[in-house]
Amino acid sequence: MSRIPVHIDVDTGTDDAIALLCALMSEDKIDILSFSAVAGNAPLDCTTKNTLDIADMMGNKAPVAIGAAEPLIRDLRVAISHGKTGLGNVVIPSATRPFSELSAYDQIYESACKADGELIYLGTGPQTNLALALKVHPDLKDKIKRVVLMGGSLIGGNTTQTSEFNAYVDPEAMKIVMRSGIPTTMVGLDVTLQTELPVWVIEELRKLDNKYAKLAVQVMDFMLIRNKEYGFDVANIHDALAFCAIVYPEVIKTKKYFIDVATAEEMVRGMTVADFRDVITDKEPNVDCAEEVDVQGFWNWMVDLFKSKEA
Ligand code: BDR
Ligand code: CA
Repeated sequence: MSRIPVHIDVDTGTDDAIALLCALMSEDKIDILSFSAVAGNAPLDCTTKNTLDIADMMGNKAPVAIGAAEPLIRDLRVAISHGKTGLGNVVIPSATRPFSELSAYDQIYESACKADGELIYLGTGPQTNLALALKVHPDLKDKIKRVVLMGGSLIGGNTTQTSEFNAYVDPEAMKIVMRSGIPTTMVGLDVTLQTELPVWVIEELRKLDNKYAKLAVQVMDFMLIRNKEYGFDVANIHDALAFCAIVYPEVIKTKKYFIDVATAEEMVRGMTVADFRDVITDKEPNVDCAEEVDVQGFWNWMVDLFKSKEA
């Protein structure tokens, strides 16, 4: 089977880092054509550096493009829970290669052209880079096979009562992406929250002696300690589930709804509103939304992936 061509757009970020590691361990299934980073979990200089450093540390040479430092029209709100650099207390050796010479929006376009209609775009941060790419290159919408997003939520939020972080940070961008006509899968917060990192997973990873597992354990340990400080006993690796859905689609069950993103009201900014009752008759369903997740299957998949790198 030929490998799936992928562009990975992240705001690395602790759980983005685990998603990146999973992608970097899956190169038998995917062909990573390029990466880009956007401001979100941390300012842009941190998210870009983290992304390049992780790719480089794992020996991947695909270009890493610098993306948007700010949402389309709003002031940036960075997350507090990923620490100042986005990776908490985890320090990664600095990459020895430069960033891509292309901007993120040109990089996405270039990879889409290269993949000849087969590109899967994975977005695990605010959607600013893809929204800009669609504005600058209007024909891009016909060149991406599928967008897979960690973002939004069929119900509830983590940044406000109604809204998930990636959607909240740049709701206008997510709206553009969801209205683009590109087949889109939303792996939303209501589903990623069901996958709480189990103790057995981190203990299995701790036994391993490969660079992927060692970095993942450091990141997960930080996440658990940090979450305890905020009064939670669990951690969610949201972004890795979105990646998993590309290489192991059975991990989620989806249903297609018409979805739009609230941008007007401050109270509901970034709320992804799905037409569950089919009352909006003049709009076709536009987003495949994850509704169920095989939690055990997800963790087994992840542990097996890390074990596969054992010498
Ligand atoms: C999302 O927000 C970020 O903090 C995480 O990296 C994830 O992409 C979860 O709401
Ligand atoms: Ca993220």
